Amino acid sequence: MIEIVPNEPQFYEFIRVLRNDERVKHGFINEAVITPEQQTEYMAIHADEYVVSLYDGSPAGYAGSVDGDIRVCTHPDYQGRGLGRALVEAIIGRYPNSRAKVKVENTASLRLFESCGFTATYLLLDPPSDDSLDTREKD
Ligand SMILES: CC(C)(COP(=O)(O)OP(=O)(O)OC[C@H]1O[C@@H](n2cnc3c(N)ncnc32)[C@H](O)[C@@H]1OP(=O)(O)O)[C@@H](O)C(=O)NCCC(=O)NCCS
Repeated sequence: MIEIVPNEPQFYEFIRVLRNDERVKHGFINEAVITPEQQTEYMAIHADEYVVSLYDGSPAGYAGSVDGDIRVCTHPDYQGRGLGRALVEAIIGRYPNSRAKVKVENTASLRLFESCGFTATYLLLDPPSDDSLDTREKD
């Protein structure tokens, strides 16, 4: 059974470890590893902007909206069971003007947000990397 609960100190380490998990990290735009100290500092400011999903009573995912930017993650053992959708719906209920920035190749995240009624509005275009500039200059 899926339950969405407020974020509390008992979940901070679960969120940090999941956020650092190699199986999910690639989905995030910022893939930096979060240290326990960074997590403590971050949660002191942003804890209330997050919710946690429980699956049969166990922590299984989290979502938050920080400065209107949604972040969401479901533990790999629990993906595909509707937790992501429940998390995004809970966050949108609390922060209706929030948006999500999604990597172009992150199909799971794109599908999740579309299933919650989001539509793609912008594409963020990054400049060429140094390598591709070098190649272009040689052409
Ligand atoms: C994106 C993510 C949160 C989805 O969580 P989830 O709990 O598996 O999602 P749900 O089970 O609620 O699925 C929601 C919808 O997305 C679709 N979906 C989920 N994973 C999918 C996948 N890998 N490929 C295609 N569609 C997928 C589901 O089919 C469902 O669509 P439907 O409602 O039309 O049936 C999860 O894959 C994840 O944590 N990824 C790594 C972290 C990440 O990328 N976060 C997003 C950063 S913006």
